[in-house]
Amino acid sequence: MRSAPWFSTLAPHAARLTDAHLADLVRDDPGRATDLSVRVGPLYANFARQRVDRAAWAALLAVAQARDVSGALAALFDGHPVNRSEQRPALHTALRSDLGAGDTARAAFAEASATRERMAALVAALDASGVTDIVNVGIGGSDLGPRLALDALRDLDRGRFRVHFLSNVDGNAARHVLRGLDPARTAAILVSKSFGTQETLLNGSILRAWLGDGERLYAVSSKPDRALAHGIAPERVLPMWDWVGGRYSLWSAVGFSIALALGMDGFERLLAGAALMDAHVRHTPAEGNLAVLHAMVGIWNRNGLGYGTQAILPYDDRLARLPAYLQQLVMESLGKRVAQEGEPVHTATVPVVWGGAGTDSQHSFFQALHQGTDTVPADFIGVLRSPHGFEDNRRALHANLLAQSEAFANGASDADAQKAYPGDRPSTMLLLDQLDAESFGALLALYEHSVYVQSVVWGINAFDQWGVELGKKIAASLLPAVAGDDVPVDDAVTRVLLQEMRTRG
Ligand code: F6P
Repeated sequence: MRSAPWFSTLAPHAARLTDAHLADLVRDDPGRATDLSVRVGPLYANFARQRVDRAAWAALLAVAQARDVSGALAALFDGHPVNRSEQRPALHTALRSDLGAGDTARAAFAEASATRERMAALVAALDASGVTDIVNVGIGGSDLGPRLALDALRDLDRGRFRVHFLSNVDGNAARHVLRGLDPARTAAILVSKSFGTQETLLNGSILRAWLGDGERLYAVSSKPDRALAHGIAPERVLPMWDWVGGRYSLWSAVGFSIALALGMDGFERLLAGAALMDAHVRHTPAEGNLAVLHAMVGIWNRNGLGYGTQAILPYDDRLARLPAYLQQLVMESLGKRVAQEGEPVHTATVPVVWGGAGTDSQHSFFQALHQGTDTVPADFIGVLRSPHGFEDNRRALHANLLAQSEAFANGASDADAQKAYPGDRPSTMLLLDQLDAESFGALLALYEHSVYVQSVVWGINAFDQWGVELGKKIAASLLPAVAGDDVPVDDAVTRVLLQEMRTRG
């Protein structure tokens, strides 16, 4: 793939650094250990173990400037139609901070605030009811954010409700979630921005029938009329808006289940943490702007060094779902091969995002990270203070976190080739003071902004996802055949597979 014009200034640095070993870069310039680090509130980031030197770092910042990243960030916050294919703004920042200038951003902020008041009233009413269990029915952005948040912030759960998540259209998921629940004590929230998602509508129908009446059925949607048509009472339908992308929506009423678990107070603290990151990103020049630096490191690894994947390695059990959440955030946002106006991009874009929690992952896929033929850049994420009180475990966890990052970078020689470690595996270290609602909100907002900045450099739209439509369309067209109707099926392989399903199923 030939390279985009903006890449020409990076190319010489990439050529120069391709054979430079990370351990040598750090040894020759020890000051980078502190200089390539940034703190934003409770979040500290260190980029010293990325395969850049100061000249390459400066060149990356120059690219950010040449691509007018700061103008693009202003456009995002101010509600310009940055989602060009759908002619919409992407105002997830207005769900948590009043930083946008102009009527569109201000109106969004006002609507989000009014919706939180309605949410608070519904939380209070459910608190006062006999409901013990909540089922969040949604998929993708209507599931992954709340699911991650409740896992990550489990220590802050008020314990008022047990919250369950139902996403997969596989009926086994519904059977598993409903087993042991009492319909008289359960409320369901149907979360779907479009209220047209097959999985959520089917699972929603199961819940509606299982609950028996609509009294404990709630909805969150940008198409409230569709929710009403499903028999959900207007007072239990919370709005969403087309100016919030699904994968950026946990800060909206999509986070109703988060508010039920943590209380409105906890939910507001989550938003405050994201707002802290928003303010930093909105007002800080590129050289000290954490989201811009994180994004430019992503660009460097993808385009400068040609790495095709990115590992997310949280060293905290409560963040085990973070890689799954970031898979949608990054890959649905950046998985594009044409630029905003439809012309082909001339560089590689999205990396494959994957990962898992340390230390578990050390005993599964780390072998490949240390000695495999591909280099996988990693984001390590550590949490400094935890409430569990098991001090020996904390020390072991932190020692492993430090050790792995060091081993990735430096490697180790050995006369026996089987036992030698090449090292030179780049990583970023992100450290949170603690995993509370604020720092968790700040962490997710950092990744959101980093994704946006990368999209700006690549010239692509981070807020549409046309690539998911074809599969939905073909699935809809195949439904009659799967149901057993004698309808023509064009594709020869699908015909054979269908036959196999029919005879053996
Ligand atoms: O199919 C992809 C997608 O549109 C995601 O972008 C979205 O988060 C998910 O489906 C769920 O969509 P909805 O909230 O409209 O049900």
